[in-house]
Amino acid sequence: MIVCKSPAEIEKMRDASVLVAEVLAELASQVKPGITTLELDAEAERLVRAAGAEPAFKGYRGYPCTLCASRNDEVIHGIPSKRPLAEGDILSLDMGVKKQGFFGDSAVTVPVGRVPEEVQLLLRVTQEALEKGIEQVRLGGRVSDIGHAIQKHVEANGFSVVREFVGHGIGASLHEDPQIANYGEPGRGPRLAEGMTLAIEPMVNLGRPGVKMLADGWTAVTRDGSLSAHFEHTVAVTKDGPLVLTRAAARVP
Ligand code: CO
Repeated sequence: MIVCKSPAEIEKMRDASVLVAEVLAELASQVKPGITTLELDAEAERLVRAAGAEPAFKGYRGYPCTLCASRNDEVIHGIPSKRPLAEGDILSLDMGVKKQGFFGDSAVTVPVGRVPEEVQLLLRVTQEALEKGIEQVRLGGRVSDIGHAIQKHVEANGFSVVREFVGHGIGASLHEDPQIANYGEPGRGPRLAEGMTLAIEPMVNLGRPGVKMLADGWTAVTRDGSLSAHFEHTVAVTKDGPLVLTRAAARVP
């Protein structure tokens, strides 16, 4: 069952989502060789609570932290650690918050210092794929149009889309219907309707698409050890098309 939100509810989601965007931008600016992801996690939790919100992931099915910090071949759900980041790493920062009863969820992948051109391309193509998916958000469109556009852009650039994890509806719960695969045929699945709110989140591998789980029960890594990138936005379906809630620019003055 897909829950459509009223304009007032979408405003609350926007409030939570803009906070996510602002905290992720601040954390991204702090990423450099030598900092640990546990330090970034502490900063994230401090900023979220100072804004009167709560981390969405901490305690969710026993997840221990505010951030997911996935490094290099880690695809998603990397647990923050004391191991310092190194020049040439890439780092995906994924965070959700709950504010006034509603959730926002977003992720970015950033380079640590300088990275090779092929890696810059992986990051750029993954972010572009997210934007291509968002462009498919329109009344009467279908959920699978989103994943189709994402897959097309990723594969045209020689990278691969992770199949095992998907985007999701979001609202008064972190995860709601529908599931949003990042691949597939267009024109399938539920029709997009006004008030739906979706977390669209392509995960893209530099090498083969396969993933495996680490023994910590959370971290997904690429099977072939290749690098992986992840970008995510929370988006509302409106009459005028997609409204990206997790952009800092979405704050209402
Ligand atoms: Co998500």
